[in-house]
Amino acid sequence: MIEAFLGSEFIVLLGLVLLWGGTSFSANQIKYALNGGGNVHVWRNITRIGSWAGIALFLLWVVIICLILAVFGWYFVIDRFLVVLPLLALPVCFVITAALPKLKNAAGLHPNYLVAVLVPVHVMLAGSMIAFYLVTLDVPAIPDGQELTIYLAILAVTAVLLWFYHKRRLARILLHQPGILRRMLRGAGCTATFVGVLASWYAWSLETSKFPGSLSMVNHEVVDFGGGTVLAPPGAQGHDHSQPAIGNNTVSVTDLTGPKTGEPDKRFTLYAEKKAITLSSGKTIEAWTFNGQTPGPPIVVQAGDVVEVKLVNKDIEQGVTVHWHGVDVPNAEDGVAGMTQNAVMPGESHTYRFRVEEAGSHWYHSHQTSSIQVQKGLFGPFIILPEKQQDSGDMLDITTVVHDWDTPQGTVTTLDAADTLQTKAVKRGTKVRLRLINSSSLTKVFALHGTSYQVVAIDGEAIHQPGELSGQLLKIGGGGRYDLVFTMPDDPVTLHLYGENTDATIVFSEDGRGKASYLHDGEVFDPTTYGTPAPTPFSPVTSFDREFVMILDQLYLGNYNGKTSQLWAINGEVFPNTPTFMVQEGDIVKTTIVNRSFADHPMHLHGHHMHVLSKNGKPLSGSPLVLDTLLVEPGDIYEVAFLADNPGLWMDHCHNLEHAALGMTMHLAYENVTTPFTIGTDSGNHPE
Ligand code: C2O
Ligand code: CU
Repeated sequence: MIEAFLGSEFIVLLGLVLLWGGTSFSANQIKYALNGGGNVHVWRNITRIGSWAGIALFLLWVVIICLILAVFGWYFVIDRFLVVLPLLALPVCFVITAALPKLKNAAGLHPNYLVAVLVPVHVMLAGSMIAFYLVTLDVPAIPDGQELTIYLAILAVTAVLLWFYHKRRLARILLHQPGILRRMLRGAGCTATFVGVLASWYAWSLETSKFPGSLSMVNHEVVDFGGGTVLAPPGAQGHDHSQPAIGNNTVSVTDLTGPKTGEPDKRFTLYAEKKAITLSSGKTIEAWTFNGQTPGPPIVVQAGDVVEVKLVNKDIEQGVTVHWHGVDVPNAEDGVAGMTQNAVMPGESHTYRFRVEEAGSHWYHSHQTSSIQVQKGLFGPFIILPEKQQDSGDMLDITTVVHDWDTPQGTVTTLDAADTLQTKAVKRGTKVRLRLINSSSLTKVFALHGTSYQVVAIDGEAIHQPGELSGQLLKIGGGGRYDLVFTMPDDPVTLHLYGENTDATIVFSEDGRGKASYLHDGEVFDPTTYGTPAPTPFSPVTSFDREFVMILDQLYLGNYNGKTSQLWAINGEVFPNTPTFMVQEGDIVKTTIVNRSFADHPMHLHGHHMHVLSKNGKPLSGSPLVLDTLLVEPGDIYEVAFLADNPGLWMDHCHNLEHAALGMTMHLAYENVTTPFTIGTDSGNHPE
């Protein structure tokens, strides 16, 4: 629903620019008309009507932002009220008090007074243009002192300059009326200047948007302490790694490792390599794979295991890493190129070692140019089984990964390597655990048709007393996982992707020959009301050491690392200008996440699990929800909490990896943790 409000706001603001543009033009014509160069009454009337229409449109905008405030809340309009409203309201007052009385009758249009018409109308146009610019291209999501004042200052200076300009110009016109040709030339000149200024500004902004050759992953300039103790600047020495750190207990990410010695309980080797894979339909895809397969080989371990994984890069020129999505590993094992390690280049290897603590369905993927590498296939399931598998004898455990492949013929969606219907023979009465993993960037909607079932875990964390469901639509954001359990009934059961043009479907039946039956309509499953409450470490009334706010916005267009594109912002900024959230070990942290854009944002915090406190102002009414990837849909506002118990430098980003690669990335940093790694062309590290 927020889309409708934001869409109307966009149209109204664009309307304001056009309307005040037209009105400014007609007001300008009065200048010439007064000295016989046109019809004063016509231009006066147009200016008057235009002004009133412009004021009405402004009031409509006010109504829209008030409605957004009432329906969605303060965080959705904070910048509109604090920054944009004054930019429009002050010129409106100026127009009403100065211009409109003069426009009432022709007598008011004495040349000496015309400035009082021209300036307010033109200032109103300037205000509308800045308002439109801010809302579409440069949102001051959480306005700081500079954003609160600078635009008003620009407007005031514009007003003064316009005043002098029009005064002089009027005097000249009255002395000597310019001919139509001169007026047109002058108009063309003004337009050309305006376009020229705009074009140079664009070129400058495109150039300066390029990342430097070497860049620290963590923003040291804009640090948010969440209202808690102000800490030493994170890695203040970050730009010069040879310098000893300030503060005495500085620790480098490279020291925050898993157990370094001893025999691991499980050992794996992942070979990153290019390989053409053949889908079930026979289609081949030029994929980038782990061990030549898609998904990569399942890593299945038990809670408590020490796991060792050796990553070998055979031929991925950009380099690779492995990130253990959803597993809270020590920082050095987190696999983020440029922050916790260097990308592993062809011929090189890197070994990860860590102890896995909690059971659950997770996945692994490369975190080097991840928007490209994950899409091309560098991912696989990572399943941690409970320590003692309580007689899983007759439990069928199936993992399936949904993925979108970019092919020359368009997107192909698969369940594992299948883009066509798969069948599985399952004896009636068998308990089936289905682990659904979404490795694509877009939200996937699953339906399980033909049986009742339970959602027993989300993001690997068990749901407390999950109820029986049927006919529900299960929305899983990019990077998210759902575990479903059902008991095989007499008739076939179909797992399919709802509302997608894909044949990727699994049919379970007694003889393995059952027919698919699709769900055509259903209610969207709401995890915040599912299951029953259980004790949690945090609640909305916990006293928090730090409270952060993340406002997620779309910028309609912007320059990013030398490219022009739609961008995705956090608190009005795109990476690397997004703020760093700073914490101290032991802090209890609350974050409020607000989606003011038209797209889903599955927000993923590395190294920690977020306890959901509330959604859209309502506390959870069902089971505790402990997530690593929180799907925030347009218009949603969530409060989440976590305990800062895993020191390091951690990414916090949208797992629509294209969004992450277009700005929607930031970091959580622990006091005094530094990294020797950098990103940028010099290092070859490009985590996004
Ligand atoms: Cu699954 Cu930062 O990623
Ligand atoms: Cu996103």
